[in-house]
Amino acid sequence: MDKPDATKTRLPETGVPTEALLADIDARQAREPDVHGARLFGLVYPTGRHDLEELVLAVNNRYLFGNALNPFKFPEVARYEGEVIAMTGGLLHMPDGGGGSMTSGGTESILMSMKVNRERALARGVERPQILAPISAHPAYAKAAHYFGMELVRAPLDARYRADVNAMRGLIGPSTAVVVASAFNYPYGVMDPVAEIAAVAAEHGAGCHVDACVGGFVLPFLEDLGYPVEPWDFRVPGVTEISADVHKYGFAPKGASTVLHRDADWFGHQYFVFSDWPSGLYGSPGVAGAKPAAPIATAWAVMQSLGRSGYVDIMRTTMDTVEKLQDAIAGFDGIELVGDPIGPVFAVKSDTVDLYAVGDVMDDRGWHVNRNMDPPGLHMMISPAHATVVDELIADLTDAVVHHGESRGKAVRYS
Ligand SMILES: Cc1ncc(COP(=O)(O)O)c(C=O)c1O
Repeated sequence: MDKPDATKTRLPETGVPTEALLADIDARQAREPDVHGARLFGLVYPTGRHDLEELVLAVNNRYLFGNALNPFKFPEVARYEGEVIAMTGGLLHMPDGGGGSMTSGGTESILMSMKVNRERALARGVERPQILAPISAHPAYAKAAHYFGMELVRAPLDARYRADVNAMRGLIGPSTAVVVASAFNYPYGVMDPVAEIAAVAAEHGAGCHVDACVGGFVLPFLEDLGYPVEPWDFRVPGVTEISADVHKYGFAPKGASTVLHRDADWFGHQYFVFSDWPSGLYGSPGVAGAKPAAPIATAWAVMQSLGRSGYVDIMRTTMDTVEKLQDAIAGFDGIELVGDPIGPVFAVKSDTVDLYAVGDVMDDRGWHVNRNMDPPGLHMMISPAHATVVDELIADLTDAVVHHGESRGKAVRYS
């Protein structure tokens, strides 16, 4: 990371004119990856849909300065939030009695769910509640354990890179507050056996959180398209919470996730309420106090604008790109997919090809391909806009597999 510009670390004595500021910002932004360029994999999810972006910009302009903290002052923002929760709940078959809220992102959704599960365990007398999660689960569970004084117990994966249910059976105990399943996970795009994990959790009176931060706005549409999708949402008995991010494959700008609870009563445990100060009752269902209104309004608008058929169409073209890319990869000697990825996220591994060196060549050609550490390899998260560059991507990848040197040993970092 570059150091801050020394000329910019002090508040200027007098303001910088707008034109100069924007020129400076343009110059700085030019040093960052183009979020529309379809050369990033993950972090951003470009659709290539100009009309959708225009809508997002228009709604963003209207709500940029709003604050969702106080639903009485911004009642329509509160209603957008309720409607996003209801629409997402409908997609994921949340029962009528369920509830939830929007948060700033997948991490906060997971944090809030873990907090609720901690309360649930404390209420039944557990002293140090545990989170039982597969090693492929997102670091947000470790963060939750760290923040909330919980213990993270990690389960190994089976030979197909899914959470090993038998191992989970051996690790669950009276202190387990919640068991985690990913639908699907980040490292490999592989589904955990949600129904089996939820059953183990239910047998022990523990909650079951399904992390659908990535999959929540993918799997319902894959199901519509006729892909075989194992049951994973609230239709599965024992699933108590689901996180699903609108700011990933829901195609809303950053700052929009949902956390849903089967039981509205437990949703109540998300709230922190305090009135013992001079300014009266204060309450909020998440980590944030002041809460940006624009991500809520834009998420609502994107969902309304696309509708189910819009998402299905986008997922169809995205999966066409995925399949084209995976067919090309299947033709490379010694390179294979890790496990059985279900959707637009997958990883590749190899015993014979130095994939980090392949990644270096791709970097040199302007592709921001992520690395995986275990197994060593490359990680890809395909967005709709990759459809426009897939032939170039395959050509570069093919060339990189054939003509690569020694790996430069770039650090493998979550990105
Ligand atoms: C499976 C999964 N869960 C949770 C998260 C966390 O989401 P966020 O980065 O929005 O906090 C991610 C992020 O990539 C993820 O892939």
